[in-house]
Amino acid sequence: MLVNMRELLLDAQKGNYAVGSFSVANMEMVLGVIKAAEELNAPIILQIAEVRLKQSPLEVIGPLMVAAAKGARVPVAVHFDHGKTREKIGQALELGFTSVMFDGSHLPLDENITETKAIMEMAAKTGAAVEAEIGCVGGSEDGSEDIVINCTKPEDAVRFEAETGVDALAIAIGNAHGNYKSTPKLRFDILQECARLVKTPLVLHGGTGISPDDFVRCSKTGIKKINIATATFDMVEKTVRDCYNKNGINGYYDLQAAEVEGAYQNAKRHILIFGTDNKA
Ligand code: 13P
Repeated sequence: MLVNMRELLLDAQKGNYAVGSFSVANMEMVLGVIKAAEELNAPIILQIAEVRLKQSPLEVIGPLMVAAAKGARVPVAVHFDHGKTREKIGQALELGFTSVMFDGSHLPLDENITETKAIMEMAAKTGAAVEAEIGCVGGSEDGSEDIVINCTKPEDAVRFEAETGVDALAIAIGNAHGNYKSTPKLRFDILQECARLVKTPLVLHGGTGISPDDFVRCSKTGIKKINIATATFDMVEKTVRDCYNKNGINGYYDLQAAEVEGAYQNAKRHILIFGTDNKA
């Protein structure tokens, strides 16, 4: 069933776990992620980032994501990731997304607050949740920019929470989008301080390549939503390649099944690490 992301994150706070937010690019990925969630009886979030709309137009994939969420046997929120423009965020809201992110992390804090509040007014019309970001998570969602990590200042999180009342707050603690060049060293001291000072559910971007132990530690220290993108795309591609190498693909529908399988395996693995199984 389609649910508001706010509900999922509040439940995650009560149960002390994190909900996986899986980026999708096509129907096969949507089906694979939902299959894993249903099998494990897990709530999940389906998301697509604004920068990915070149490959997967919002007016095409958005209704598909919403329809799949509505038909799922588990709670599914549909989230617009890294929203940059009011136009696209507005379109996602119109399509029935139950959550939108405004990424103002590159702006001075004052401007990020002002712009986030404007997006919250837009989202209030449909009741959708809003996620914001402070500090700078490294890399960029499509790998096109090499954004330098700029860890969140806990006092900024306090101010941001007080002035916006946003539903979810992405913080930068040494995490980065894409595959890490070396093992990520997360700043748990900063995470702990943020979690101590604010009650807003915190979000970890750049989930690909973070160790299971670090995921669990994050989920027990205020992180209630974990974004996974590259791992899904890589796993889908690898599963297809492996099938070809084993001569397991004879025609288009085998290729399609391999894509669903890759997304399913990746989502299943992460749901089990995050401890979201049987939380639906
Ligand atoms: P990864 O591509 O590193 O998994 O990051 C996902 C993400 O944070 C999307 O917003």
